[in-house]
Amino acid sequence: MTIAHDGVPSSRPTTTSTDLDTAERLSIDELRALQLERLQWTLRHAYEHVPHYRRAFDAAGVHPSDCSTLDDLARFPYTTKDDLRENYPFGMFAVPREQVSRIHASSGTTGRPTVVGYTAADLETWASVVARSIRAAGGRPGDIVHVAYGYGLFTGGLGAHYGAEKLGCTVVPASGGMTTRQVQLINDFTPTIIMLTPSYMLTLLDEFERQGLDPRASSLKVGIFGAEPWTEAMREEIEARAGIDAVDIYGLSEVIGPGVSQECMETKDGLHIWEDHFYPEIVDPLRDTVRADGEEGELVFTSLTKQAMPIVRYRTRDLTRLLPGTARPAFRRMEKVTGRSDDMIIVRGVNLFPTQIEEIVLRTGGLTPHFQLQLTRAGRMDRLTVQVEAEPDASGERRAAAAADVVRAVKDGIGVSVEVDVVDPETLERSMGKLRRIKDLRRAD
Ligand code: DLL
Repeated sequence: MTIAHDGVPSSRPTTTSTDLDTAERLSIDELRALQLERLQWTLRHAYEHVPHYRRAFDAAGVHPSDCSTLDDLARFPYTTKDDLRENYPFGMFAVPREQVSRIHASSGTTGRPTVVGYTAADLETWASVVARSIRAAGGRPGDIVHVAYGYGLFTGGLGAHYGAEKLGCTVVPASGGMTTRQVQLINDFTPTIIMLTPSYMLTLLDEFERQGLDPRASSLKVGIFGAEPWTEAMREEIEARAGIDAVDIYGLSEVIGPGVSQECMETKDGLHIWEDHFYPEIVDPLRDTVRADGEEGELVFTSLTKQAMPIVRYRTRDLTRLLPGTARPAFRRMEKVTGRSDDMIIVRGVNLFPTQIEEIVLRTGGLTPHFQLQLTRAGRMDRLTVQVEAEPDASGERRAAAAADVVRAVKDGIGVSVEVDVVDPETLERSMGKLRRIKDLRRAD
C-alpha cells in the first residue's frame, strides 16, 4: 500500500522500469531521432496522398524535403477543424478507403461533423497508446475495467475499450447512460478501474448515494477521467467521495482519440504526451508563432505514425503549456488543460473559463459541484449567472452566504461581477458524457 495524492491510500503498484515499453525507456536524444524520422515520413505521406496537404504546402512554399530538423516543422502550415470540414467526408484520407478499418466522427452540433479514419495498423497504435495510458494510471493485466465513456462515433468508448483489452484487462463495455444500472454493474462485477468523464462520475456518485450505497466501499481504486476540462479541486472532490485515485487522460479524435497523453499515477503532475506518436507544439493563438516550452498557448499536434489520416500541425484550441517529463523522463508533460479558446467567456472585457468557476464552487461550503453558467444580455452588457445546486441540507441562510461567497471570490479572483443563483438540489441537468457548462441565451434576448 502506498500513499498517493492528499493522503488517499493507494494500493496500486508503483511502476518499475520492467513495466515500461521500449519507447518509454528511450533517452531524449533517441526519442528526438525517432521523431524526426517519423515526421519526415508523415510529411511525405501527407503531401503525396492528400490533395489538401499538397495544396497547403505548395501555397506556403514548403516541401517535405525542407524538413531536416524538428524545428523545420514550424515552416509548415497549420491544419484546422475547417480544413477537415471542407474535406468532408473522406477527403483527408491518405490511403484508399478500402484500407480504412474504422471511421469515427465528432458530434457535429454545428455544421458538418469532422470525420476521422484508421487503418488496421492505426487501430493497433491507438490500442497501444491507451494500454500504455491505463498502465501509467496504475492498471495492470487482469484488472477489471468499467468503461462508461460513450460507445459509437465518439472515440471515448471504443478507444478505452481496445486499450484496456490490449493491456490484458477484463473490459465491461457499459457505455454512457442508464446510470442506475451502472451502479449495479459496478457492485456485481467489482471493477478496479473506471473510465468516464469527470462530470459523469459526479452523476454516478450521486446515484450511489441515492441508492443508499457508500461509493468508498466499492471495488473501484482508480478513475481515468478525460474528454472535458476538470480541475485539481474536482480531483480532490472525486477522490474524497469515491475513495479512489483520479488521473487525467487527454486526446482528440482528429489526432487519435483518448490516449494522446496521460497523467501517471506516481506523480499526478500533468499528462505525459506519448511523443513517439504525437509531436506537440505550443503556439501563440493570436500571432500563430511557436512558443518555447514552459510558456502558455494553444496546443498543436502533428501525428508521427498515422497512416489513414496523417495530421500536420492541428490547432486543437486547447490551452496549456509543455513541461519536462517526470515519471517518464523523455516524454514532455502538458499541464492539465484549463480550457479551450472556444470556451472562453468574455464578460465586460474580462476573460474567464468555466474551470475557474469550478475551483470556486468546489471550495465553497453549502454547495454541490453541479453548476451551470448562463450568459444573457442586459442592454449592451453581457451578464453571467452561475446557477449552482445547494447541498440537500443547506438552510436558506447558508445558501445566501454561499452565494455571497462565490460572488466575492469571482470578483476578487477573476475581477468580474457575476450573479449567483443557488438552486434546489437535483434541479440542474446531469451529465451523461461530455458536459456543456455554458448556456448561451444571448441570442434569445
Ligand atoms: O474527447 C477524446 C477523449 C475521450 C479523450 C475520452 C479523453 C477521454 P473529442 O470528442 O474529439 O475527443 O474532443 C476533444 O475534448 O480538444 C479537449 O478540448 C477536450 N478534452 C479531451 N480530453 C481532455 C482532458 C475526445 N483530459 C476535445 N482535459 C479536446 C481537458 C479534454 N479537455
